[in-house]
Amino acid sequence: MSTSENRNRLPPADPCAFVIFGASGDLTRRLLIPALYNLAEANLLGEGFRIVGVARGEMSDEEFRGHLEKGLADFATRNVDPATAKWLLNCVSYISGDVDDPQTYEKLKKELERLEASGLTQGNRLFYCATPPQAFAPIALHLGAAGLSREHDDGPWRRVIIEKPFGTSLDSAKALNRELLSVLDEDQIFRIDHYLGKETVQNILVLRFANGLFEPIWNRNHIDHVQITVAETVDVGTRGKFYDATGALRDMVPNHLFQLLSLVAMEPPSRFDANSVRSEKAEALDSIRIPTTEEALRDSVRAQYRAGRIGDREVTAYRKSPDVAPGSLTETYVALRLEIDNWRWAGVPFYLRTGKALTKRRTEIAVKFKQAPVSMFRDLKMGELSDNLLVISIQPDEGITLHFNAKHPGPKIDIAPVGMKFEYKDYFEAAPSTGYETLIYDCMTGDAILYQRADGVEAGWRAVEPFLQAWKEAGAKGIETYDAGSEGPYEAATLLARDGRRWRKITDPDG
Ligand code: BG6
Repeated sequence: MSTSENRNRLPPADPCAFVIFGASGDLTRRLLIPALYNLAEANLLGEGFRIVGVARGEMSDEEFRGHLEKGLADFATRNVDPATAKWLLNCVSYISGDVDDPQTYEKLKKELERLEASGLTQGNRLFYCATPPQAFAPIALHLGAAGLSREHDDGPWRRVIIEKPFGTSLDSAKALNRELLSVLDEDQIFRIDHYLGKETVQNILVLRFANGLFEPIWNRNHIDHVQITVAETVDVGTRGKFYDATGALRDMVPNHLFQLLSLVAMEPPSRFDANSVRSEKAEALDSIRIPTTEEALRDSVRAQYRAGRIGDREVTAYRKSPDVAPGSLTETYVALRLEIDNWRWAGVPFYLRTGKALTKRRTEIAVKFKQAPVSMFRDLKMGELSDNLLVISIQPDEGITLHFNAKHPGPKIDIAPVGMKFEYKDYFEAAPSTGYETLIYDCMTGDAILYQRADGVEAGWRAVEPFLQAWKEAGAKGIETYDAGSEGPYEAATLLARDGRRWRKITDPDG
């Protein structure tokens, strides 16, 4: 794991052939090529770096380069230096073929052997599955059958990056793991979750474990509850087909929100290495209490947005969006109350919420500490003290704020809420990035700390499965609505009010 700051001091990644399946798709153009460009600009791709694109369409190498060049012009996060862009595009070759066709892998083999004959890539191969999820297992199985992913002792490495979604249920995630593991070793599989590419997410580990200050109070004795919010303003847009079959819970919770939850809840790892860190994260997810059907219905809220307005944008109701069934029961918002059954967290609720078409884009983790046990200030009731909160802002603001009470100046004790605020931009200068740079660099250097291991993925699905099941049984009963552009459904407020708590506001949470 590297920070943008020390990336400049890092050596270039291992030479390798970077094979992209789904090379003509959106992910490649919007994220992978701009990320590779940023790595090239930071001198982190050595001379022995080559890209082989694989996609169905017939294209010459030249046409494919033109396609990527346009993508770079449209989606680069920085000013494009023509010499660096030229260098990167010169690394590219293209193979046309279907991922289900064994012939494709024969062609790929020839291309890899051609590159490897010159010794340039030293035989290292990274296969990136930037394809729809149905293709993940077939690609891995074909690579295995063609002998393309086989590693030999002390020989070159072969690694496969799998995009999300990793399964749609516990069973399908297990089945996918089984298929991948039938041809690859666990340490060859890199399951991506782009939330782990965010600097502020990585910083949760540093905040907790590089400071002596927080860990002694990071437990049930001092923490009242934790709120994790991922609020989006984007609506379903043109993704109706995917989204209506998926919903907010599957799309966001077992992956992105659980990454945040596990980093907050995990025990200190014995070492800062991929296995220790991922074991502790999986353990935290495994400790999430599995609710009964009744509890799952009580402790969850699911809702769909109605028509509304976000800023000056009119938003069509979810059910009227393209490729969404008119009577769809798919949730675009979910709120959950979870309990973690271990010695550190027993009795501390973790409230999670995420939704589309909300009033504001905001991702944050708010840790609320217990109040002072008594109020020793005359005339001041306990309820009037404001919350002691540690808020980790992930996006769009990046920073950490500690909220506490202070004395208002004047002759009498008058208490006012104040905040100590750390903002990334005040301390560090980071060139704008796609969020994929660190992940790709880490894979090329064999560091899997920011990737998900099979047990972590399965523990995530295990924890959300009871909610999916309970909702399926409940059908239309219990699906709520909210206005696009609002804070979410009223029922989400009730979920916390029941416990005598309330959500931070998505708009102006400190106001
Ligand atoms: C993706 C989801 O994984 O994450 C999208 O499929 C969601 O629905 C996106 O919008 C959110 O990512 P970010 O980085 O914008 O918070």
